[in-house]
Amino acid sequence: MILNISGRTRPCGLIGYPLEHTLSPKMHNTAFQHLGLDYVYIPFNVLPQDLERAVAGLRALGFVGFNVTHPHKENVVNYLDELDEGARLAGAVNTVVRQGDRLKGYNTDGAGFVRHLETEVGFAVKGKRVLVLGAGGAAKAVAVYLALAGAKEVIIANRTFEKARKLAEVISEKTPAGSNAVAWNPTGEEQVWEDGEALKEAVASADLVVQTTSLGMHPREDVCPSFPYEALGERHLVVDIIYNPPRTLFLQEAAKHGARVQNGMGMLLYQGAMAFELWTNRAAPLNVMRRVLP
Ligand code: ATR
Repeated sequence: MILNISGRTRPCGLIGYPLEHTLSPKMHNTAFQHLGLDYVYIPFNVLPQDLERAVAGLRALGFVGFNVTHPHKENVVNYLDELDEGARLAGAVNTVVRQGDRLKGYNTDGAGFVRHLETEVGFAVKGKRVLVLGAGGAAKAVAVYLALAGAKEVIIANRTFEKARKLAEVISEKTPAGSNAVAWNPTGEEQVWEDGEALKEAVASADLVVQTTSLGMHPREDVCPSFPYEALGERHLVVDIIYNPPRTLFLQEAAKHGARVQNGMGMLLYQGAMAFELWTNRAAPLNVMRRVLP
């Protein structure tokens, strides 16, 4: 492939480590090419100790913007000039946009998750009750953006209860949604009775359940989180943000109990589409971007 790069080409990029499996360069470069935009998207493997200098470098080199992935999503906020509200509340950034000589951080993981649900899955978030499994970086983005999009209640379940409690506190104090934390032991043989009951109640009253931990992800597809699947039914939408494998054991169990299920491919596509729109001010060619995904 011969790239038509010139002195006018506008660079975008990705920083993270390791980046061997990233699908973003293909998704963005195909989209730029499709719309005839003179942009290029380049991935950079950046170690944690080099993050500050990498951001300074991208700034000095005039990058239009860049994506940020594991393990930098939280630390990168220290090197930006401004944060979008959702990114600030989530404490994590996956997309940076240059505005004049300032760098502003966004979280299109959370925003893209919500947009995918609303536009493709037909799930309107407003007034809904949500149960988020996990309290790490991905959970924070998903939970905060669901709350900002008008969810009535966002319950957080996590192995480390303290992390769930902190996230629930941010949501109930800083967004219009109600929030609470419950303990969840997804790799335990038996749920602790009280926690098991609290979790069961949260499942029963939820409209949407989102699994954000890495349990069941390639290469450990054989892992099925312990969860009160029997409390799920046809009225539930269940999303696992994992996309490899396309159907985790968690999703398979949820489907067996009648729930509508979605994997993480939609979130991946829409986080990319929203980053693309922030950098180019053009509508993302969703179907072109979708075609390069597995
Ligand atoms: P990410 O940025 O992908 O969300 P993370 O911030 O490391 O990654 O968060 C990982 C999440 O998966 C956390 O909720 C973590 O639970 P803890 O907060 O208790 O660590 C959860 N997780 C990962 N491995 C787990 C396991 N074996 N059992 C239970 N929870 C696990």
